[in-house]
Amino acid sequence: MFSSAFDSRTVHLILVGLFFMVVSFYVGTLFSSSHTVLVGSGDTIPSTPSKGDLQYTNRVALIYRTKSVTIPESGVNICPLKFNEYIPCHDASYLTKLLPKLDTSREEQLESHCPQLEDRLFCLVPPPVDYKIPIKWPLSRDYVWRSNVNHSHLAEVKGGQNWVHEKDKLWWFPGGGTHFKHGATEYIERLGNMTTNETGDLRSTGVVQVLDIGCGVASFSAYLQPLDIQTMSFAPKDGHENQIQFALERGIGAMISVLATKQLPFPRRSFEMVHCSRCRVDWHANDGILLKEVDRLLRPHGYFVYSAPPVYRKDKDYLVIWQKLINLTTAMCWKLIAQQVQTAIWLKEDKDSCLLDNAKKNLLSICEPVEITIPQWQSPLRNCITLSEQFDFQKLPPRSDRLGVYSKILEKLGVSPEMYELNTKFWKEQVSQYWKLIGINTVDIRNVMDMNACYGGFSVALSNLPIWVMNIVPATMSNTLSAIYDRGLIGAFHDWCNPFSTYPRTYDLLHAYHLLSHYQSGERSCSIEDILLEMDRIIRPQGYIIIRDEDSLVLRIKGIAPKFLWDVSLHMLENEEKKMEPVLICRKKFWTIV
Ligand SMILES: *[C@@H]1O[C@H](CO)[C@@H](O)[C@H](O)[C@H]1NC(C)=O
Ligand SMILES: *[C@@H]1O[C@H](CO)[C@@H](O)[C@H](O)[C@H]1NC(C)=O
Ligand SMILES: *[C@@H]1O[C@H](CO)[C@@H](O)[C@H](O)[C@H]1NC(C)=O
Ligand SMILES: *[C@@H]1O[C@H](CO)[C@@H](O)[C@H](O)[C@H]1NC(C)=O
Repeated sequence: MFSSAFDSRTVHLILVGLFFMVVSFYVGTLFSSSHTVLVGSGDTIPSTPSKGDLQYTNRVALIYRTKSVTIPESGVNICPLKFNEYIPCHDASYLTKLLPKLDTSREEQLESHCPQLEDRLFCLVPPPVDYKIPIKWPLSRDYVWRSNVNHSHLAEVKGGQNWVHEKDKLWWFPGGGTHFKHGATEYIERLGNMTTNETGDLRSTGVVQVLDIGCGVASFSAYLQPLDIQTMSFAPKDGHENQIQFALERGIGAMISVLATKQLPFPRRSFEMVHCSRCRVDWHANDGILLKEVDRLLRPHGYFVYSAPPVYRKDKDYLVIWQKLINLTTAMCWKLIAQQVQTAIWLKEDKDSCLLDNAKKNLLSICEPVEITIPQWQSPLRNCITLSEQFDFQKLPPRSDRLGVYSKILEKLGVSPEMYELNTKFWKEQVSQYWKLIGINTVDIRNVMDMNACYGGFSVALSNLPIWVMNIVPATMSNTLSAIYDRGLIGAFHDWCNPFSTYPRTYDLLHAYHLLSHYQSGERSCSIEDILLEMDRIIRPQGYIIIRDEDSLVLRIKGIAPKFLWDVSLHMLENEEKKMEPVLICRKKFWTIV
């Protein structure tokens, strides 16, 4: 049964993997006297490795960021092997120092805490021993290389719930979860039944975008894809060890995040459904402030799906918790529309009159309006509900027509429908140019990040491929992320002066369109080298990085990219103003410490 799951391409992949082990073993014996030797490898493995082709001069050294960055002649240093999972803003040793100042009762320690520059490493994060080029989508949904995510904790504690099992050199994901031991498909069908009185599926209730809180290995998201539902999944980096790394290795969109003391990095009113299956969030605590964050993120008539013991167990404190949840959600004017097996579903009714009544009775407070054209970034949670009259209501079309939606927020940002149309056309053309320049098979690409996504045009141009895109809107720019969500796409705000909350080696393609110049000017100036280092951390070996920017900047990057062990080629393409501009295509080499 196991072997029948493999097609011929997988066999080829295993061969490449084995071949790589053989090569590194061979080279390793040649140079085993030194731990500072690196070998290149990849799809064009030389048949007879020679010292000349394969050895790089970069040194393995634990180096912290200094006040000013100078890159050694020998190339950027390589971090020691034990840092192969380094995530700067979720670094346990740094957190230990901060811990006394953090509110652990609200899980503040699980939020992103980025060290000052001098407390960050400035070296390339190496792959673990035996790292292999990841298995391709769609097979990766069910199988990933064991050595790429060398953590057995999850299989040990969650094996019984069918999250993940070990199979020789692979991890196998049967598609289970704590509340869907028998597979996510049946669970998703039940949610469809519950929201439609047994007459339809989730798609027919208008669910296009889902936020999955505490997503585990993101099987829920993987099994919503056949319904053409896009999911933004997140979980903290916690004791369940590397859930998000598993999700991304599988080729499922996810990021590290937590619902604790700050607003999530997503714009208000972006999801038709927020889902929590045993997500270990204390919704009833602190006056329901976390439910109020869910209310902010839900679109009008959105659903909150909650599968957890307080729904079905009457023992211990569960009854009290349930009663508190009922009181809080009633005050927020949510309607409990279904309760079955282990799941309860609420509908956010969006009735201002009800909210105003309850505010008068002191059951909740109404939020002061905020400026929606600027990103909500790292703002504290708000213990209040925003009235819907504060938004321009825009009825969005069904999924099939959503990619072309002109979001009302664009009007507020001064982007006319004509500018928006031109932008969409421009990106269609650019993407076809990129494929020509890169000369790759698009099936080699699954996890993509647009680091400066603007209106999401790049992502729209990729939407006919089996690819998912994390659309990032820099927190120091306008809130175009709302427009991206209105098109049915997913993404997050981020400040690129800091590392992103993801594991190393998680993306196949990074796109940086006029991103670096943004960070060279204005209030936030941070160094190009720090951003390049972060790109190197999150891109997979043999992954591509496309950089477009001002001439001088691109030339500078072309000069330093080889020191990051990237292959580079420079091209010219027309920009939106029809002027020629440089395009740098970089590819991270597949190297390893031997
Ligand atoms: C995986 O981790 C275990 C213990 O954490 C270690 O003994 C083993 O060498 C690791 N395997 C690889 C391939 O890194
Ligand atoms: C959903 O409803 C249909 C039609 O009533 C039924 O056949 C099916 O078994 C239900 N699915 C689940 C998982 O409850
Ligand atoms: C299902 O039908 C009942 C009775 O007609 C109604 O009260 C309930 O609101 C309906 N639920 C949904 C989710 O439509
Ligand atoms: C829920 O509200 C009712 C009525 O306002 C109140 O009597 C009860 O104590 C509340 N329950 C909890 C658990 O807060």
